[in-house]
Parts: sequence; structure tokens; C-alpha cells
Amino acid sequence: MVKRRSRVRWEEVWPVEVVVARIAARVETERISLRAAMEDFFAQHPELGPIRGLVRAFSLAMLRYALQIDWLVRTLVGEDPRRLPPFERNLLRALVYEYRYRSVPLDRVVKLARRIRGLRLERRDFELLASADLAELVSGMGWAEKVAVVYSVPKWVAEYLGSLLGREQAEVMLDRMNRPATLWVRVNTLLTTRERLIEALRRRGFDLEPDKDLPDVARVLRLAGNLSHTPEHSAGHFYLQDKASALVGHLLGPALVVYDMCAAPGGKATHAYQVSGGCALVVAAEWKFRRLASMRAVARRLHAHIEPVLTDSRMPPLRGVDAVILDPDCSSLGRLGHSPEIRLWTAPVLVKRFAETQRELLRASASLLKRGGRLVYSTCTVTLEENEENIKWACDELGFEPVHAEPRVGFPGLGVKEAQRLYPHVHDTQGFFACVLVKV
Ligand SMILES: C[S@@+](CC[C@H](N)C(=O)[O-])C[C@H]1O[C@@H](n2cnc3c(N)ncnc32)[C@H](O)[C@@H]1O
Repeated sequence: MVKRRSRVRWEEVWPVEVVVARIAARVETERISLRAAMEDFFAQHPELGPIRGLVRAFSLAMLRYALQIDWLVRTLVGEDPRRLPPFERNLLRALVYEYRYRSVPLDRVVKLARRIRGLRLERRDFELLASADLAELVSGMGWAEKVAVVYSVPKWVAEYLGSLLGREQAEVMLDRMNRPATLWVRVNTLLTTRERLIEALRRRGFDLEPDKDLPDVARVLRLAGNLSHTPEHSAGHFYLQDKASALVGHLLGPALVVYDMCAAPGGKATHAYQVSGGCALVVAAEWKFRRLASMRAVARRLHAHIEPVLTDSRMPPLRGVDAVILDPDCSSLGRLGHSPEIRLWTAPVLVKRFAETQRELLRASASLLKRGGRLVYSTCTVTLEENEENIKWACDELGFEPVHAEPRVGFPGLGVKEAQRLYPHVHDTQGFFACVLVKV
């Protein structure tokens, strides 16, 4: 008689730690966002859909601690995780994270650690890693080195923030970025009002409060599930958008023709359409096909009739527009909390490279705009090179002038008082920079 094989349960084939390690390995080697890597993984493994939320929360937390864990393994076990292949390195991080910070049973952790080829970790190694007193271990170190370990960031980031903000504020900012970020929604006022949306979501158990600075933004105080699974989300009544990012649409104000040079996933482009009362022609340029497609989906859901265009905005196909949004790729140091994977690859040379590309785009923005037209330049980073230094360059080289624009939400720029800087620990947003310029 043929014995029927018992069904292999997916938990045995795909323990959550292995899923997290698989996704994080791809994020680290290809330098893609956690969101993109998760989308691909779960498209290939729809049967794992039920653990998607858990994998996201686990990955975010593990990536926040990744550099600290690497340092602990080097210091206490004498092994350098950097010499392991990416999957093994991330499985090691996931297991140390679980045992040190989540008190997962040691038996489970040790059993899964056998999958780390090239490194044999015993029970006592995990016990040592879990019980180590971090404050004691770092007590003799210099400030930047210590802060890098304690907040799990590269040393150059600690040094940069220390000299930008002062040591005390730098630590407060890093501490804030290691705790869950505040969730903000931008209400689609073309379809509903803020009061109606807050009331509708309240009936579903969510709690939101209106923001005091921006009339279409609300802060989420309590979740009762996933906001993007609500009927109000499907109906396009709101977009999950950080308050700092929503500032851009208001700084831009109503315009007839808007060109968003770096538009996907479409948060600012659809907001520009909304702020114009649905009257503006918004050209939403994006050079990555996949991102353009997801922007189309966002715009459709929000009933925002924008014009997505697949193009390289360094060579824009238009001239003489009223208003331009330039929100280019950047070093994203303001998003170390939202996208902790950035910590794995960020480097000073990237800041320099981003600043150069941003200047190419600024140059193109000057050719796009008509005389007197407005440019809103923004980034989700806090470096001077990508922000104030680029603004000064654009004024000297391209004939722009910075203007004071309302609403004022952030601190004045450093040496460019018209600009605004927002910080996670002060404004409860991502770290952000925005400046309005006029082409004279
Ligand atoms: C920071 S994101 C923009 C976010 C968007 N503004 C929003 O609020 O939803 C930058 C985007 O610009 C795109 N991009 C970068 N360089 C570009 C270029 N030269 N031309 C067109 N798109 C570009 C990137 O692929 C990316 O999707």
C-alpha cells in the first residue's frame, strides 16, 4: 500500500525568519526598497499572504537593528557577518534580533541557525548576544562610534548629523527614527472632506486628528487594521502621505500647467491636481516603467486626471510651464526610520552623486519654466549638499530666486531662510527639505 505523504505545512518550509532573510538579502544586494522586494516576493508566493504583515513589521525592526547586530556579533562572537553570503548574513541578523529583542525561544533560534552555512552558532553564543549590556560595551568609545552602534547607523551618518544639528539633537533625531513613524493621511478633498473622512474611519475603529498646519492632512492616532484595506481607501478618499511631503502641494498652490519631473509614485503630482481643484494639467514624468504603472494606479484610485509620461526629465519634452515640482532621488537620510534598509548602503559618495544628478535636473527645470514660473524643490534628506548648496547653486548659475512661501511648517533653511527644514524629532514627519524658487 502506498503511504500518503502528509501535507508539508508552509510554516515548516518558510519559517518567517527565512522569509525575512530572503527578502532582506535581495534588498541589500540589489539596493532596492523593502517595499519593492516584498511586493515581488509575495507575488511569487501568494500562499504566504497571511504572514505579509508580520514579515513587514519583522523586517523593518530587524533592518533598524542590523548594523548594531553586526557589531555585536563581531565584538562578542569574533565573527564578521560581512564575510557571510547575503542570505546567511540576514538570517543571522533575524535570529539575533529575535532572541535579543523579542525573547523568541532559544531552541527555535538555534535550530534555524543551522541554516547559516559557514558559521556555527551555539546556544551560548546566542545567550551571550542576548544578555550583553550595550551601554557597558560602548562606554569607552568615541562619540560618533558609540552613537553609530547605539542607534545602528553608519559612523559617517552619526558624524554628519552631529556637526549639522549638534550632538544632542542628532541623538534625539536618531532615537526618534528608531521608533515607529507617525502615519499621516492626505484627504482627497476632490471626493470628500477631512471631517467626513475622519468620521467614516472613526466608525471603523480608527482615530485620526486634523493637522493644524495643512487643511487636507490628518494624523493617525490609532489603527484598527490596515488603513489601505478600508473601503474609503479603495474609493480614493485618502492617500497615505507624510505631512512633510504634503507640504509641497500647498507651497506650489494652484497652477494651470504643472510638470512634476520625478513623479512616481504620484503623491505630489496627484496632490498638485487636487490643490488646483481638479483644473490643472499635471504632467507627471517618470523614467521607470514599473513605477509609472503604479503611479497610474494611484491616480486612477484618487480620480486624479494627471498625465503620466515615461521620460528622462533631464531632457524635458516641454517648455514654458507655470509650475514645476522637482522631488528627485536623494540620500534619504530623513527616512532612516521609514526605510531602515538605507542604513545598509548609504555612503558619503552617494550624497555627492545624488547632488550632481539633482543639479542636472535643476538645470532642466530652468528650461522647462516660463519667466516668473515657480519651482518647488524638495528632498527627503537633510544634507546641505543636496539642499541649501543646490539652491544657492541654482540661484548663481540658473537665475532662480528663493521666495518666502506659505504655509510655514518647518525651520528656516540653513543659510537660505526662505527654505524649510522638517525633522522627525521636532515635526513628527520624515526629515525633509523644501524650497520655492522663482525663475527671474
Ligand atoms: C523621490 S521619488 C519621487 C516621489 C514622488 N514625487 C511622490 O511624491 O510620490 C523620485 C522619483 O523620480 C524618478 N526619477 C529619478 N530621476 C529621474 C529622471 N531623470 N527622469 C524622470 N524620473 C526620474 C525615480 O525613478 C523616482 O520614482
